Amino acid sequence: MVKVAMIGFGGIAQAHRYAYWLFNKVGLPVQLIAACDTDPEKFKTVTKINIPLRGKIENERPFTAYSDWREMLTKEQPDLVDICLPTPFHKPVVMQALEMGFHVMCEKPMAETYADCLEMVAAAQKAGRELMIAQCVQFQPEYEYLQKAVEEQLYGKVIASEFYRYSPLPSWGNAKWREESGRTGSCLAELNIHDIDTVQAIFGLPEQLSCDLQSKVYPYDFAESQFMYPTHTVTIKSAWYDADYVFNAGYRVEFEKGVLEHREGKVFFTDHDGQTSGIPVEDADGIMGEIRYFVNVLEDHTENRRNPPKQTAQTIYSLEKCYESADAGGAVLRYEVGG
Ligand SMILES: NC(=O)c1ccc[n+]([C@@H]2O[C@H](COP(=O)([O-])OP(=O)(O)OC[C@H]3O[C@@H](n4cnc5c(N)ncnc54)[C@H](O)[C@@H]3O)[C@@H](O)[C@H]2O)c1
Repeated sequence: MVKVAMIGFGGIAQAHRYAYWLFNKVGLPVQLIAACDTDPEKFKTVTKINIPLRGKIENERPFTAYSDWREMLTKEQPDLVDICLPTPFHKPVVMQALEMGFHVMCEKPMAETYADCLEMVAAAQKAGRELMIAQCVQFQPEYEYLQKAVEEQLYGKVIASEFYRYSPLPSWGNAKWREESGRTGSCLAELNIHDIDTVQAIFGLPEQLSCDLQSKVYPYDFAESQFMYPTHTVTIKSAWYDADYVFNAGYRVEFEKGVLEHREGKVFFTDHDGQTSGIPVEDADGIMGEIRYFVNVLEDHTENRRNPPKQTAQTIYSLEKCYESADAGGAVLRYEVGG
């Protein structure tokens, strides 16, 4: 049984909590035993974010609430520490949790800089503990299907592709930490990063990239990146929208034999005759997928091959390249691995 203690019990933490509850209910060997938040209100109400929760938690097994995470980790001795804190806290808290001897899952973005990510990777190696960054989109069934379609060339080779992620401005979170943390709170670091990470998991590292950022509300309220591969270019777009607006994300990938699209939560394939068919995928989200995967890694003592922290660090490296390109007016930059 993997015993879990969560640090940060705000917005995205509620989706993690839901996954732990559901998996425990259906017999996966995982249980939330404790959670910590400096704001006691977080234990009284369920914070709502830009994506609706998948359902209501009923008959939840009791867990102990804390306001001090060091006290919680000392008293509870969990197997896994799940960190859902504002991004500036990721590196210091991950490092300390690893040092204390716990396996760690931490929300994306991994850290504020690539150099910080490398320190985190080294800390996990030194501690002999697993560290996984919750890059949930890789584990979302619609994107898992795309990965399979690309790897197995189900529709031939890829000709062009576009990934997008549009969200209302985050209005939850009591500390307004996104507005205060500069680039770390931008839509590039908060939204685009999901697709950058997934694109790299599917297509590998690009040869060149460019990025255009436009600043209106947050430091950057619109981001468009181009990841250039020898055979095709991937466009990745994201934006915050300051309105009562429905979050939407998806992809459109053109293959030799037709177009595969993920939109409105579904996957479709349209062939050259214009015939569109729905592709059935598992009814689950990426957070459920990543938690199930990591629990299995810990339970079975297997290697995390799908998104080891070194790979996630590379995502932050790409993010830094995107900023570099944007600062140079959208210049096309050569991508030197691990720069
Ligand atoms: N995977 C996703 O799709 C997704 C979606 C949203 C957010 N995120 C990421 O999750 C992280 C958290 O974002 P959020 O939207 O949940 O933020 P949030 O502000 O809603 O939640 C953060 C919580 O941490 C608590 N906190 C702050 N300092 C603390 C401390 N020292 N000890 C204990 N608790 C403390 C706050 O009180 C708050 O409840 C961010 O890194 C964000 O990028 C990921």
